[in-house]
Order: sequence, then C-alpha cells, then structure tokens
Amino acid sequence: MSLLTDKKILLGITGSIAAYKVADWVRALRREGCQVTVVMTESACRFISPLTMAALSGNPVYSGMFAAEAPETIPHINLARDHDLLVIAPASAQTIARLAHGLADNLLATIALASSGPILVCPAMNSIMFQHPATQENLATIRSYGYRVLEPDCGKMACGEEGPGRLTEWENARQAILTTFAPQNLTDEHVLITAGPTREPIDPVRFLSNPSTGKMGYALAATARQRGATVTLISGPTALAAPPGVRRIQVSSAAEMQEQVMTCLDAATIIVKAAAVSDYRPAETQLHKVKKGQAALSLPLVANPDILKELGKRRQESAKGPLLIGFAAESRDHLKEGARKLKEKNLDLIVVNDIGGTETGFAADTNRVTILDRNGAQEDLPLLSKEETAHRIWDAVARILADDR
Ligand code: CTP
Repeated sequence: MSLLTDKKILLGITGSIAAYKVADWVRALRREGCQVTVVMTESACRFISPLTMAALSGNPVYSGMFAAEAPETIPHINLARDHDLLVIAPASAQTIARLAHGLADNLLATIALASSGPILVCPAMNSIMFQHPATQENLATIRSYGYRVLEPDCGKMACGEEGPGRLTEWENARQAILTTFAPQNLTDEHVLITAGPTREPIDPVRFLSNPSTGKMGYALAATARQRGATVTLISGPTALAAPPGVRRIQVSSAAEMQEQVMTCLDAATIIVKAAAVSDYRPAETQLHKVKKGQAALSLPLVANPDILKELGKRRQESAKGPLLIGFAAESRDHLKEGARKLKEKNLDLIVVNDIGGTETGFAADTNRVTILDRNGAQEDLPLLSKEETAHRIWDAVARILADDR
C-alpha cells in the first residue's frame, strides 16, 4: 500500500493551454490507487473536453455551480468536503487572482473557499503574466492562506515566449502530493544519503564497478524529502534524475565519495549509506588505454577505504554524532552478515537485502529487506516497492529518534 492508495484527489483544471498535460496526471494518479474527481472552469472546457477527463478519471466531471439534474445536492459543498487534497493544475492567472481575493464566482473557486483541507496550486501561464507584480502578489497571498504553490518551469511556451510559466513536470507535482500525505517526522533532520555504484578506473576506457542502479538510495532521498528533511544525496554514476528538492552531488570513485561524505558530514544528523561501494580499486590507473596483448592477465588491487566503518569509528570517539544507517547486500548468511556489519561498523540500523532473484536487489523496482537495530530488534518487511521500503526504513528511524530525543 502506498501513501496514495485510496486517497481522494479533487483536480481543478482552469483555462490554460497546459490543460491537456494534466490528462496524464489523472492516469498516473489512478495507477497509484487514487480516486480522482475533476472540476473544470468554463475556460478549461475550451482547452480540453470534459468527456476526456470523465473517461480518464472514471468519474463525472463538474463545472457548473448548480447541477441541472439535482440542484438540491449543492455540488460545491459536497465536493469541498469529500476529498483529501485539492490540486489546481494548471492554475491560470485569473484563477489565482480569484483564490487570492476569496471570490466565489465559479464552482472551482467556490470549492477552494469552502475547503478546509490542503490545496496545491500549480500555475501555468505566459511568463510576463506570471512575473507581473499582481500575479506575484496574489501568489504570496494564497501562500499566506496555507496553499502550497509549485513554481512553474522555465522554457519555451506555446505562445512563443520564453521564461517561467510552463506547468511543472508530473514528478514535481507527484512529490508535492506525496509530501501532503507523508508523516512530517524528519523536519528537523539533515539527511546525507549515498547511492549507486562506484567506478574504479583501470585506464581511460575501463573500470571496476557493480550493477547497482541507485534506485534504493534515490527512493530514500525522495521519501526523506517528502517527510520534511533537508536532503543531500551523494551519488555514484546512475541513470536517475535527482528527486525534486534534493541537493545531489555526483561522484565516480569510492575515494571521491569518501571525500564528499567527509565534506558534508558536519551538517548531517542522519547518514544512510545505500551506495554499493567497490571494496577494491586497481593499484594503478593507466594514463592511456591499455592495448590488446599489452596487459598482464592479472590486475593488482588495493583496498578502498570503508567509508561507513570510518564514520562508525569517529562516532565511537566523540560521544554524539549523526545516526548511522547501513545496508548489507548479501547473497548468503544474510542475517548473520547483517548483524556482524551492524556491530563492526557501529551502526544504529542496518538494512539487509538479498541481492539474488529478480524481485529484489540491483535494478529491481521492488525489495524485500530485514531491518536490524543495535538493540537486537528485527523487522522483516514483505516484498514492497523501493519507495514503500524506504518509507518503512524512515518509520524505523523515526522510532529511534523518538526514543533518543
Ligand atoms: N561501505 C562503505 N565503504 C566501503 C564498503 C561498504 O561505506 N568501502 C558501506 C556500504 O555503503 C553499506 C555497508 O558498508 O552501507 C555494507 O556494505 P557491503 O558491501 O554489504 O559490505 P562490506 O562492508 O563491503 O563487506 P563484504 O563485502 O565483506 O560483504
């Protein structure tokens, strides 16, 4: 079950050319288990058909103040009461002005005024309109009411203008929606997460590495952000985009990762080492490509520093330090190995995962892990998406924080 399962989302669409983009948002929300009801302003109906939105949402679309077939049902009051989140996307300059001034001259504005739940506003308009002091002031006003406003993206727009005003990408909206439903129990924390593989160069075209894709570490970064943490992600080479609101530092080798971890260490209150760090690197890196037939058939290696062990040692020396969470990637003796690493590296928690099989480990979108803590507690999680696994890891961290502080 994800944070979005069975959530009731009311989506308000207004008169902007970006209206067609939210058709995909409706599909994405429904894929994640949400119930979506769409409210459209009259102008929105000129940009995209209510029929399209009804078919995609699987629900009737509302646009008039008074339902012709049952005027006694007062749709604005019922709709305002019966949802977990109101998302207004795209939000035109006109609708933002209505919201700022408390106008109730169409169904969507009336619902917003009559709603006591969270409201997320995603502006989309011509960049000059967006930057106009009137719009900026209206946005500041609705923020002061507690509405969450997602900044539009910059770029070329349908009107030919270039600048801020494009509807934000779905990933940003998704992250903001999840933030509404995530427990806000990491708001005082600065989380430092390492993710992905490292690459240890042999020569300019070859390296030693492993199949880590970074998915688990990136899911931890995104979910920590949803729970209100400040997040720094130190990432080895991956194909993934940085999660919204997360500061990412890209590195390649274990030595670079170690250097960045040490630089960011002082600010961190929680460190999660989800990276698959190479334990060894070639003793020498060749300046030029090694030609066929020139290489010795064995490659001398030297040990890389164990970054997490070093952090655990430092913490032993100075009584108070950040919370330390490690991962143990195992193909056998999982729990025994996990418990050994928990103790040897002086950790608060270790997440043990099986790297065999297609549903768990490297590259999979799901994981099945066991969480061990320093007091001997063991929590076996079922097969879950990496995002859900990450939330369960943060639940375990939140329990330690609650006990400690
Ligand atoms: N780790 C690290 N630096 C290393 C190796 C590992 O910081 N040079 C961290 C990993 O990020 C992980 C934990 O230590 O959080 C355990 O990593 P893992 O690869 O499972 O174990 P190792 O300590 O490398 O031991 P082994 O290879 O013997 O299983």
